[in-house]
Amino acid sequence: MSNFNEQKHTNEVVEAFQHTPDPRLKQIMQALVRHVHDFVREVELTEEEWKFAIDYLTRTGRPMPDGRQEFILLSDTLGVSALVDAINHRVPGGATETTMMGPFYVPAPELPLGYKLGRGLKGEPLFVEGTVSSASGMPLANAAVDVWQSDSEGFYDVQLADLKDAQLRGRFRTDPNGRYHFWSIMPSSYPIPLDGTVGEMLRATRRQPIRPAHVHFMIAADGHETLVTHIFVAGDPHVTSDPVFSTKDSLTREYSREAPGSAPDGTRIDRPWRKLVYNFGLKPVAARQAA
Ligand code: BEZ
Ligand code: FE
Repeated sequence: MSNFNEQKHTNEVVEAFQHTPDPRLKQIMQALVRHVHDFVREVELTEEEWKFAIDYLTRTGRPMPDGRQEFILLSDTLGVSALVDAINHRVPGGATETTMMGPFYVPAPELPLGYKLGRGLKGEPLFVEGTVSSASGMPLANAAVDVWQSDSEGFYDVQLADLKDAQLRGRFRTDPNGRYHFWSIMPSSYPIPLDGTVGEMLRATRRQPIRPAHVHFMIAADGHETLVTHIFVAGDPHVTSDPVFSTKDSLTREYSREAPGSAPDGTRIDRPWRKLVYNFGLKPVAARQAA
């Protein structure tokens, strides 16, 4: 037994992990202890605050009625998900930057190029086209381009029973030149779910909950890392205050306003429409080191 000393205490707890056989686990646990102890010292955590934190995290771990994991949303809104994504996907020049997947991805049916998503839903028509290439610029044929997005009121098809058949998602395959195109409707900005502990935190801290409008993409091609990203609508007022910190300049594009007439795929359209052009670059899987 010795007199309690705050820094000595931290050292003792760090030391308690010294025999951890897995070196990575040892590194993580010791760093976690150091950072949590520093945090407690920095803010001089009171006992009431500590009890509140335990209760908050316990409530965060409870299943939500819609099945989502509130802990992921907590990680998203604390910027941890975006940081984990960034450090695990440092992309070379020519490759598209990544973002988190978000909670609304579900596998979608494969659809022919040019298919119209969101048939029968109100909203401005949107034509999307571009290419999928390797970071070197080589076009990638037959790449799987998964797309999902909100409707014009900010809801994903999985959120609303009456949108279930609306197909605001799909999988397209690039043509032999690595090109893709499809029709949809303009996505809208939307609030992240606010009915759990994350909503509580955003309200208490006066943070704004609206994500800027975007279309999600996940693109898979042989020999390349699967790309998960969003393309944000330039000019959306929330593009600089995303509550989950995913916006990047390279992922923000004009969804240009087009006059009635002929679209690039030959479709005649008798009302104004919007166009997004995005050329994706995929990171090649690292070549195996020779033994
Ligand atoms: C989304 O873009 O779908 C999303 C991402 C993170 C949290 C909530 C929604
Ligand atoms: Fe989204």
